[in-house]
Amino acid sequence: MTAAPRVWLNLLTDYSNGMTSKNYQELYPGNDIDPTAVIYPGVVMGNGNIIGPYCIIGAPPEWKGKEYYYGKVVIGNNNRFTGLVTIDSGAENTTQVADNCYLMKHSHIGHDVVLSNNVTLSCGVKVGGHTIVGEHTTVGLNAVIHQKLWIPYGCMIGMGSVVTKKLDLMAGCKYAGNPAKYIGENDAHLPDYLINRKQFPGE
Ligand SMILES: CC(C)(COP(=O)(O)OP(=O)(O)OC[C@H]1O[C@@H](n2cnc3c(N)ncnc32)[C@H](O)[C@@H]1OP(=O)(O)O)[C@@H](O)C(=O)NCCC(=O)NCCS
Repeated sequence: MTAAPRVWLNLLTDYSNGMTSKNYQELYPGNDIDPTAVIYPGVVMGNGNIIGPYCIIGAPPEWKGKEYYYGKVVIGNNNRFTGLVTIDSGAENTTQVADNCYLMKHSHIGHDVVLSNNVTLSCGVKVGGHTIVGEHTTVGLNAVIHQKLWIPYGCMIGMGSVVTKKLDLMAGCKYAGNPAKYIGENDAHLPDYLINRKQFPGE
């Protein structure tokens, strides 16, 4: 019997365009990228990002018929992906992570997702494709967010929640459960400028 192929080695050499940890330093100076991370072509990033072990960034979208397509991922500055974080490339647009986001282990961002500044995804969070997550939103352990949703700024999504397309979310509020429902305001952890914005209707 022959040994099983070391697929992860092929990932590092073939699919990530021959990049190695040394190349990561040259390609993404000013960032701290673990050598086990796999970063596909089409990923651009700013500075100060920490990308932990076994993250996979820019893999083809999980969308039947578009898996072959190496789309783009844009990552801003000072984000931290602790490990085993997966971020798929855009299929129709660009997958984006802005600045100061904190993505914990096993969190996944689908194709074309946009994370605004200061978003926190706890371990195991899944964000479906095309969803937009507003600034200062926090998503609890293992929560799941349906594709093509808009999560406004300053929300808290409870651990284990299932956010469905019927939920009409308001900025600065807490939601939890399966299906997720409104459970209260989230002012306690918001910066003042976001609390003040809630006074203006239409935002
Ligand atoms: C959503 C959350 C912030 C709410 O905390 P809270 O404001 O203190 O709310 P409470 O615990 O008082 O709960 C309020 C109600 O919501 C319910 N609730 C709270 N969190 C819930 C959840 N995740 N799923 C379902 N229901 C939840 C409570 O049972 C309670 O219901 P009741 O009024 O019928 O008794 C918190 O429960 C949570 O999920 N935090 C995230 C934890 C996490 O992922 N940490 C990451 C560690 S790295």
